[in-house]
Amino acid sequence: MAAINPTLPRYPFSTRGDRLAEELRSACPMLRVVTNAGDEAWLVTGHAEVRQVLSGTRFARAQVADEGSPVQDVALLAPELLDAMPYLRKAGMYDEIQRSLHDLADLPDSWLRAVIRQAVEETVAQGMPCDLQRHFCDRVAGRTMCRLMGLPESDLPRLKAWADTDLTMRLPQETVHRNWERLRDYIREQFSRDGLAEAPGLLPRLATRNREERALTPEQLANILGVVFVAGYEDLASFLGVASFHLVQMPQVLERLRGEPETVDGDVEELLRYSVVLGNALARIATEDTDLAGHKVRTGEMILVSTDAANFDAARFPEPHTYDPGRRPNPHVRFGHGPNYCPGARLTRRVSALAFVALAGLGELRLAVPPREVEWIPDRMAITPVAVPVLWADPSATVRPS
Ligand code: HEM
Repeated sequence: MAAINPTLPRYPFSTRGDRLAEELRSACPMLRVVTNAGDEAWLVTGHAEVRQVLSGTRFARAQVADEGSPVQDVALLAPELLDAMPYLRKAGMYDEIQRSLHDLADLPDSWLRAVIRQAVEETVAQGMPCDLQRHFCDRVAGRTMCRLMGLPESDLPRLKAWADTDLTMRLPQETVHRNWERLRDYIREQFSRDGLAEAPGLLPRLATRNREERALTPEQLANILGVVFVAGYEDLASFLGVASFHLVQMPQVLERLRGEPETVDGDVEELLRYSVVLGNALARIATEDTDLAGHKVRTGEMILVSTDAANFDAARFPEPHTYDPGRRPNPHVRFGHGPNYCPGARLTRRVSALAFVALAGLGELRLAVPPREVEWIPDRMAITPVAVPVLWADPSATVRPS
């Protein structure tokens, strides 16, 4: 293997979600970097190039798990942890995920509204200043994912601890693997819980089908369900946190949302574009020699895709650093692109719209500290504020029905 060039920049460049790292701003559309694991890779930052990599068959995700491929963070415990959906597809059970995340039948609107209202009430009950990340965003994301999956809400504290550790970069491989085994064993135990066949949620439905069809081993299915829980919980909690951090600094947006809640969809799309939330990158391996943005990419090389940088590409988004909920179209790549496009996009949009309108209903929300004093969790794959401390105008604020 070729020696690593010690002068290359180490990616990721920043853990902050309030602005794009300088290196990502200036590096358009592609540069050579060193990963967390110390291997060389291409970092792709241009919008057109990002879509080209994510849509093409010349750049594959499954090969990231191959022995001998460059490593992004730590070597994987099982291939289905990286490329979970093809396993469900082969097992004939992918339709269950699609249906569940498209119809959202496990998450009726009335239930989502009640969860969000309760989270606002609990936030208000904390008194000022209150941390929106912990009391609002984590709670909404956690309860939503437990209900979607069919997991007991009482297990949320340990599920959150496992998910948080899994999302931490630069941990020793043994720590990452041991942590995942605990989550996987917990999910496996759920397969034999009483009354599973009649219970609602994705886990009971997939486990019951798999018991009859035996298409996947229990371990594989537990891995896949673990991936769905961690992806959904962490990405949703992180996005709600970074987006809330932005929203509470935009009083005119909050005021508009109070008066015209039906305009929220433009804010959801622009917050998806404008929030920097991807702590590392989407990894692919080149399956053939290819030209990309004027560079020769060789078979077996790793490509790291920064959807954050692509969402700020001035060639695609005029004045990318301006918050503009009126952008039409707004072709951000927050949910990826192509065959692996995020199946949780609809759910995220629904929950976010309700959550942002509910937050606006709290009145004149504002950050309790200057923005630069907000801390960000270090080494986190989904960039997340440590806390979003807020104040609101009326200390006796009551929650409006949403
Ligand atoms: C703001 C919230 C979210 C963001 C930013 C996000 C982002 C993404 C992205 C970029 C991908 C593509 C990964 C790749 O191409 O390698 C992806 C895939 C995925 N997401 Fe999301 N996601 C979010 C919410 C959710 C939710 C709520 C769920 C589940 C309920 C979910 C489940 C998944 C799954 C299972 C995949 C893998 C799809 C596949 O391999 O075909 N995501 N997500």
